[in-house]
Amino acid sequence: MELSHIEHLGIAVKSLEEAIPYYENILGLKCYSIEEVADQKVRTAFFKVGQTKIELLEPTCPESTIAGFIEKRGEGIHHLAFAVADGVANALAEVEAKGVRLIDKAPRKGAEGLNIAFLHPKSTGSVLTELCENPNK
Ligand code: CO
Repeated sequence: MELSHIEHLGIAVKSLEEAIPYYENILGLKCYSIEEVADQKVRTAFFKVGQTKIELLEPTCPESTIAGFIEKRGEGIHHLAFAVADGVANALAEVEAKGVRLIDKAPRKGAEGLNIAFLHPKSTGSVLTELCENPNK
């Protein structure tokens, strides 16, 4: 597996409207997209720093895993996403063969229609880790 860069950091927030002004007015970033990902029960807001994105995640209902995360651990960094240069399916097969526990056995569509898959924090030093299709390819 070849990681090309940190694709994004996922940050759990209670409210996009309350979180966005910090990124725009203090950090000087521009929110370029707000998107609802229905099957993950979240609304997302995207910013770019170089080629790395910041993805704010707001739960759309109490059953959302993001709602559960915020309840347990509060708002903050939720996951780390790497862009893989050689395809998410290949990367999953490779890490599974090395004994890594997977949340997603096969790639699925994430925000922006890109293939993604999550690795289980039990196998990643407690950092929820996402592998993403490299959007620049
Ligand atoms: Co993500």
